[in-house]
Amino acid sequence: MTGDLRDDVRALFTALAGHEPDGLWSAPGRVNLIGEHTDYNDGFVLPFAIDRRTVVALGTRDDAAIRVASTFAAGEGWTEAELAELEDLRADRSAGTWVRYPLGIAWALGQTGADLAAVPGVDIVIDSNVPTGAGLSSSAAIECAVGVALNDVWRLGLDKPTIARAGQRSENDFVGAPTGILDQSASMLAERDHAVFLDCRSLESETVPLGFEEAGLCILVIDTGQAHEHATGGYRDRREACERGARELGVAALRDLTVDDLDRARDVLDEVTFRRVRHVVTEDARVLETVRRLREEGPRAIGDLLDASHASMRDDFEITTPQLDLAVETARASGALGARMTGGGFGGSAIALIPEDLVSQAQVAIDGAFAEHGWGQPDVFVVRPSDGAGREQ
Ligand code: GLA
Repeated sequence: MTGDLRDDVRALFTALAGHEPDGLWSAPGRVNLIGEHTDYNDGFVLPFAIDRRTVVALGTRDDAAIRVASTFAAGEGWTEAELAELEDLRADRSAGTWVRYPLGIAWALGQTGADLAAVPGVDIVIDSNVPTGAGLSSSAAIECAVGVALNDVWRLGLDKPTIARAGQRSENDFVGAPTGILDQSASMLAERDHAVFLDCRSLESETVPLGFEEAGLCILVIDTGQAHEHATGGYRDRREACERGARELGVAALRDLTVDDLDRARDVLDEVTFRRVRHVVTEDARVLETVRRLREEGPRAIGDLLDASHASMRDDFEITTPQLDLAVETARASGALGARMTGGGFGGSAIALIPEDLVSQAQVAIDGAFAEHGWGQPDVFVVRPSDGAGREQ
């Protein structure tokens, strides 16, 4: 599939620029296996990269312009800016289209080590098969694909965690979404058949073998088709509740609490803030337990942790939707060992850990359940744990 993307970006680049690109780079979307809304609380996450990628073709220029185009907006041709202008564009949120992601990472690299007055201009063409608005980090895939490409052609020598942090900075300060480091870390650090176990405080990471294939299991994604938005609304509100909880409990971040602190938290906090805090504290514990079981017992042992994570997001953090709940329940009734919403919530996708031989049956059951409710058909597909960002050609 990535082969088609490569052909498409190369062809569009050549058509628009009049010459071949210097190279092709790519970065994946992700699913988070477990550890939701823990990243900005300095906690633990366990994502893996999926076999859906963003591919960029890039060529350097002999001036200081940055031009971006994409196969999904091919008719628009180039959007052009000067590298020196990126700081002004950052403040001007009116240009709110997809071009903010490639321009934002160029800006963020300028904050991280690139001297934007000294590097050559670039032409960048993008194609992607990571679904947008599905909670699968299509935006991080663009940031990381462009990030590794610019790191190479501008000879910045930045390591992967630093490019991930630049991607987050771009998302926070250029795009304006107050998100954590989960998505970009998954896209940068992932390895085939492994998850990335990341401590979001120290930013230390390890890869953990998933062993799905050997166990005859796979991950089914159920994209509800309900698009979500993290720059506004519920995501920002949940983040504020967590910060309030930490402040009132006198800790630097919710990471500093354990399940044993919850009794005291119940006495100190209002009821809603308490439930938000309880989600994060128990979720951190579930991530650690998932890592332990994957290492000691294998993937068949983690189903109940995925289920408990979903229940906590539904009842305590209140970020699921009726569609996500139905997707999870139907997957489980069709033989999934565990299932949960993945990503920021308020729409997007659920994942189910399911035996390979039950996939078709589950797909039919989920389609049927959505139809019964009169809801649009979800997109249901298998994802494979894949490699992180890098050069393709
Ligand atoms: C979104 C954000 C991440 C993380 C998740 C929730 O994907 O981009 O930083 O907070 O939501 O776990």
